[in-house]
Amino acid sequence: MTPITTTAERNYIDVWGVAKSFKGTQVMSNMNFRVGQGELVSLLGPSGCGKSTLLRIIAGLLDADEGAIVVDGRDITRMAAHKRNISVVFQNYALFPHLTVAENVAFGLRARGMAKQDTAAPVAEALELVRMSEFADRPISALSGGQQQRVAVARALVVGPDLLLLDEPFSALDRKLRETMQVELKALLRDRGITAIFVTHDQEEAMGVSDRIAVMSAGKIEQFAAPSTLYAQPSSPFVMDFVGLSTRLSGTVTAVSGDMATVNTVYGAITARAVAEVGASVLLGVRPELMSVGEGENTLHVPLEDVMVLGSKTVLHGRAEQGDRILCELSGIRSGLSRGQAVTLGWSIADTLIYEVAA
Ligand SMILES: Nc1ncnc2c1ncn2[C@@H]1O[C@H](COP(=O)(O)OP(=O)(O)OP(=O)(O)O)[C@@H](O)[C@H]1O
Ligand SMILES: [Mg+2]
Repeated sequence: MTPITTTAERNYIDVWGVAKSFKGTQVMSNMNFRVGQGELVSLLGPSGCGKSTLLRIIAGLLDADEGAIVVDGRDITRMAAHKRNISVVFQNYALFPHLTVAENVAFGLRARGMAKQDTAAPVAEALELVRMSEFADRPISALSGGQQQRVAVARALVVGPDLLLLDEPFSALDRKLRETMQVELKALLRDRGITAIFVTHDQEEAMGVSDRIAVMSAGKIEQFAAPSTLYAQPSSPFVMDFVGLSTRLSGTVTAVSGDMATVNTVYGAITARAVAEVGASVLLGVRPELMSVGEGENTLHVPLEDVMVLGSKTVLHGRAEQGDRILCELSGIRSGLSRGQAVTLGWSIADTLIYEVAA
């Protein structure tokens, strides 16, 4: 199968109709996935949805049953992993514990036949990049988790890869260190213009580091868009729920007028931009920070089940029917709201997401 480029802008990575089964169970079919040059893209999705499988197929560590992988115009589908010039950083770092930091970083260069004395300069440069120069002669076993992760990134970068693949590289690190590493990695990739695919199941991490995010579910890409688009215009209830929190209300369309639908819910009538006909079952969604206490184009009146003062924000949980959720997020610390109190929550029609669902 020969990929056809129809758009003017050429894709750097072109995953074309990939399918994969394990022992007769199909985990991926007709996967199409394109990444531009210099982009940092995340694969985000629940455990078992196929993120690592896709990454391993691109790296050449797994063979696809069908489809093609093209990188920078070259079909690499049948090329051995070590010839692809793709570096992979795994969650468990996979460093050699008995070698020093510098020896670990030099390993890939040596494996490619570089003479030992020639490795010194690129190794020093790679360690400089991840700010690990002073640790060059230490054994891996004498490093913290974050330091080991930096060495793993240096080792991946030193060979000058066409593409960097990272499979949950920071999941073993604590939250603060993870945030530092995210900022550093992003800056490093940007500065060098390196194209990278980053696997995570942490939506905040994906939002923070990526130019675009592919949200995956059961071997398929549900939506592939910039973080802000995923959050503001999720294409399905799955994406809405996987990326951020939301108020969710179920209802039935009772009237459609122009491009507006009236939806009957147990909390009263709510207006949304129409996507469904009268009688259709729908799911309504609203991002919690777009709701406020008081009147709005849409409102509901509910008792508060919990008021969580989190410092930078105060989160109100409204009493909701089974399967629904009512969440309102106010900035800062709000006093004068307490559990049991009935409040009116308001929001605008434009901020109301609506999805047709099976009845
Ligand atoms: N070697 C294998 N043999 C059999 N099944 C496998 C194999 N590797 C993966 N699978 C199955 O393929 C599916 C996708 O697995 P994959 O490792 O790609 O998921 P993932 O999205 O990376 O999940 P996680 O977030 O848990 O790492 C899962 O159902 C998994 O059980
Ligand atoms: Mg995985």
